[in-house]
Amino acid sequence: SLFTIVDKETCIACGVCGVTCPQIFDYDINGLSEVIIDDNHGSKQIPELFYEDVIDAYESCPSESIKISEKPFHGNPKKYE
Ligand code: F3S
Repeated sequence: SLFTIVDKETCIACGVCGVTCPQIFDYDINGLSEVIIDDNHGSKQIPELFYEDVIDAYESCPSESIKISEKPFHGNPKKYE
């Protein structure tokens, strides 16, 4: 399983993630990214179809704000740091 969450405290609204995987990431009114499948809670499993794109976004984020884990984040992007 794979889970993802955006740390909105460090996101610099660069816009890469929403282009890389628009099915999972979109921007709020301030341009900050969030995970749209579970209101950026990081608790809903990513459909396997999107694993590659999510990992791509994770690796491309310039501020390392996209977190990924095999376990759910329960709303805390810093849970596994
Ligand atoms: Fe923010 Fe990183 Fe996406 S800076 S807009 S989370 S690629």
